[in-house]
Amino acid sequence: MKLSISQRLAAMFAVASFVMLAVLSFAMHGLLKRELERHQDNELQARWQMYKPIVVRNDDVEHWSVACLKFDNSLSENNRVSVWVLGDDPRFRYGSQLSSSQLGSAGTHGFGHIAMPEQEAPLKTFTADVEGRGERPPVRLMIGIDSTPFVETLRAFTVGLVALTVVGALGAAGLGYYIAGVGLRPLGRLSGEAQALSPGYLSRRLQTDTLDPELSKLADSFNGALSRLETAYQQLEAFNADVAHELRTPVGNLIGQTQVTLSRERSVTELKEALHSNLEDLERLRAIVNDMLFLARADRGELAPNRVEVSIAQEVAHAVEYLEFIFEEAGVKVRIEGDAQASIETSLFRRAVANLLQNAVQHAPRGAEIVVFVLQQPGAIRVSVQNTGSGIAREHLSRLFDRFYRVDSSRSGSRENHGLGLAIVRAVATMHGGTVFAESDDGATNIGFTVARV
Ligand SMILES: Nc1ncnc2c1ncn2[C@@H]1O[C@H](COP(=O)(O)OP(=O)(O)OP(=O)(O)O)[C@@H](O)[C@H]1O
Ligand SMILES: [Mg+2]
Repeated sequence: MKLSISQRLAAMFAVASFVMLAVLSFAMHGLLKRELERHQDNELQARWQMYKPIVVRNDDVEHWSVACLKFDNSLSENNRVSVWVLGDDPRFRYGSQLSSSQLGSAGTHGFGHIAMPEQEAPLKTFTADVEGRGERPPVRLMIGIDSTPFVETLRAFTVGLVALTVVGALGAAGLGYYIAGVGLRPLGRLSGEAQALSPGYLSRRLQTDTLDPELSKLADSFNGALSRLETAYQQLEAFNADVAHELRTPVGNLIGQTQVTLSRERSVTELKEALHSNLEDLERLRAIVNDMLFLARADRGELAPNRVEVSIAQEVAHAVEYLEFIFEEAGVKVRIEGDAQASIETSLFRRAVANLLQNAVQHAPRGAEIVVFVLQQPGAIRVSVQNTGSGIAREHLSRLFDRFYRVDSSRSGSRENHGLGLAIVRAVATMHGGTVFAESDDGATNIGFTVARV
């Protein structure tokens, strides 16, 4: 069973106050016990001062009976007190018969105890010797007082303290539960506000100005998370709109071409031509969809699964070889500078480099040279593709790697460029634990990515 915060706080209050009250009760009990004992000791000593002269003065057999009479009188006045005169001479004795174990527990002098068979509490005793005088030999005078009233007082007090401790702890639990309930009320309000949040009210935030400092920190963090979610949600919405927009052109083309083809009778050759043209559009659509699926994989945090240790320059050379005919057509040359060993997934890596090279070729003037730099950095390998040309304005640099982003917005929906090339470069870099970068100065554009060394 899971306890609520209020219940747990109430239990903690109860335990804390129980411990505190128990310690206090224990201390008070000890104090009272000591006080009661001191009281008894004082009473015993006062009695000793009273009875000793009776023993001292009556020093022959004749007078001893007077002493006994005085003791009898005194004891009949106060039945809590008992007196014994113990000695070798049976003529100078007083008091009831005592067993040897009772005498042992009383001791030969000072304070002691005697357990009385008919009484619950023992007698507290004070014993001391009285010197011999006249006929009387030295005797031992023992005074006892019944400690029952003291024991009863102590017991009543103990019961009171235990009851106080238990009731106090229960009271603290109840009070704690109530206080926690009051203290946690803002949390309830906060959760009410949080429940009212929905995708329809993305800009809504929790009210933090009326909250206590502890909660406002929590609400601030929550609001921060909401802001990030809002941004992600908006990006997703924009992205969906972009996807729809990008797919609309090829789909529109397909429908248009098909309608035109169907508008009148066509020869087989004409129909074949139309189908070829449709196939091209369909292939472009497939390319976009495949790119989107690949980007989604990287978004999920997937890492490149089949890595092998290779020479980076060699992999770049493979990508260059693959695009050779494009370079020839554009009349540009490609040079590779530097090399490093790294563990990469070659198909992904070549795809990223090919995308960078295609961009470079598209933007480099005829006869230009494209340079691919492979640079070893601490913890990473940096691959950058540099081309001359008109360059890229600063405000576009940070957005180049966004999906469907093109510097020349009139190219959106173009047949050749989908605006996904650099987004894929970024996905490949992320899948290799790296990042991307783009610089453009004085007509020289340098775009590339890093892969982490593992
Ligand atoms: N080397 C470059 N010089 C100047 N501009 C560039 C360069 N590389 C990229 N760009 C700009 O960045 C934009 C995004 O490039 P990206 O490769 O993502 O898309 P694309 O080339 O338009 O389409 P795709 O690569 O999908 O065919 C391009 O439209 C282009 O305007
Ligand atoms: Mg491109």
